[in-house]
Amino acid sequence: MTTRYVFIHLPGSRDAVPAGKLDMATDATGEFANARFAYGNIYLKRHDALDVDPVSLPRDGAAGKTLLPVNGLPMFSAIRDAAPDAWGRQVIENRLQRPGPLPEWMYLDHAGSDRAGALDIRPDRDSTPLASTLPSAIDLNYLLDAAERIEAGEPVPAQLTHYFQGGPTMGGMRPKAVIAVDGRQFVAKFPSRTDRFNVPSVERATLELAREAGLHVPETRLMQMPDGRTVMLIERFDRVAGPGGLITRRHMVSALTMLGVGEMDSRYRSYADIAHAISRQAPGARVAADRTEMFSRMVFNILVSNSDDHLRNHAFLYQETGGWALSPLYDVVPTPSHSLERNLHLIVGEMGRAARVDNALTSAGQFGLRRAEAAEIIDRIYRVARSWRQTFERHEVTAQDCDLVASAFMHEDHIGMREAMSKGG
Ligand SMILES: Nc1ncnc2c1ncn2[C@@H]1O[C@H](COP(=O)(O)OP(=O)(O)OP(=O)(O)O)[C@@H](O)[C@H]1O
Ligand SMILES: [Mg+2]
Repeated sequence: MTTRYVFIHLPGSRDAVPAGKLDMATDATGEFANARFAYGNIYLKRHDALDVDPVSLPRDGAAGKTLLPVNGLPMFSAIRDAAPDAWGRQVIENRLQRPGPLPEWMYLDHAGSDRAGALDIRPDRDSTPLASTLPSAIDLNYLLDAAERIEAGEPVPAQLTHYFQGGPTMGGMRPKAVIAVDGRQFVAKFPSRTDRFNVPSVERATLELAREAGLHVPETRLMQMPDGRTVMLIERFDRVAGPGGLITRRHMVSALTMLGVGEMDSRYRSYADIAHAISRQAPGARVAADRTEMFSRMVFNILVSNSDDHLRNHAFLYQETGGWALSPLYDVVPTPSHSLERNLHLIVGEMGRAARVDNALTSAGQFGLRRAEAAEIIDRIYRVARSWRQTFERHEVTAQDCDLVASAFMHEDHIGMREAMSKGG
């Protein structure tokens, strides 16, 4: 059994407070088996306390109890959200010079105090946070060099280690780091050696296309290195820049957490499931806007063939005024394909995962939309997506990269555009 303390940064506060005790049990082979959590009594008495996990760890009736994750999950999903995924795990293994997989709590221990969201994991109730020093934009070249070594499974040379040493490890598969720019924090997404096109520049242009389509997108920037490598920056939405340079944190959970499902079950869930979670969790005034935004994101993902739309690529942020609202958009990349029949990862409508706008229209009601309203949204986003090449060129995507991703943007005949317009009218 390994015990850790879960800390949380409550809205607006600089320091984290201990929320409770996390026990992690191992099986006979020493592998992580399951977790249990008990809230601290002092924490439960705070007027400003939040649920560490809105689904598995409600505070109501939790006093004196040991709680288990819902649906037989091994770990509390909100705590898992604060741990690294494939990339961050590789960074930690490289830092510690130990081959993976490491025990689960080692990844929790070494994700850095500036990790995703508002949680921190510490060895003791009295532990102070690990020191955190974020690199800045001028360090990007060194960060890229270090990331290339990490990706290749090679040790990072001593003169480069400190760039990756103090920063947090965010989730996701792709190489990335967090950097500080002008007193704000950005996720810097790097190229990967397996890329078949310039993913950072294409991802950035796709997010800008989404902004043109009216979706809620954080600030993005493209950084060109002197040697031609490219990095995409996206502002962190789980951080709030306050007066006097104070950066506070927002509690963030993935849609996996909000739906209480494990990673492997993500593909059996639907966009409508996320819309229902919005109805349950969002503040009343946000529900309609967030459900419309979710429907619009589903349509956008169809139009750009973003088939990596799993439940960890949708998130919720705790609102200072109470309730959980949909986070801004992130991780949207077109997937080129030769097939005329495409699927998204999540279920879209009555035709299952089929990436077609007439399929999206069948589920309009689940997002609180009338068919005519949904058809109007589809039409509006389609008109923007259709001119993707101009947007991409404006955002420095080369003609060669445009050609490489062009097949992701399908002709209207193959995505049920005519059928949707005739049914939605
Ligand atoms: N702008 C942002 N603000 C706060 N957190 C973010 C932001 N962008 C990404 N994240 C967090 O970092 C994680 C990884 O980012 P992202 O999904 O962009 O990376 P990825 O490596 O491309 O992911 P995948 O493995 O899904 O391909 C996300 O799951 C989310 O928790
Ligand atoms: Mg992702």
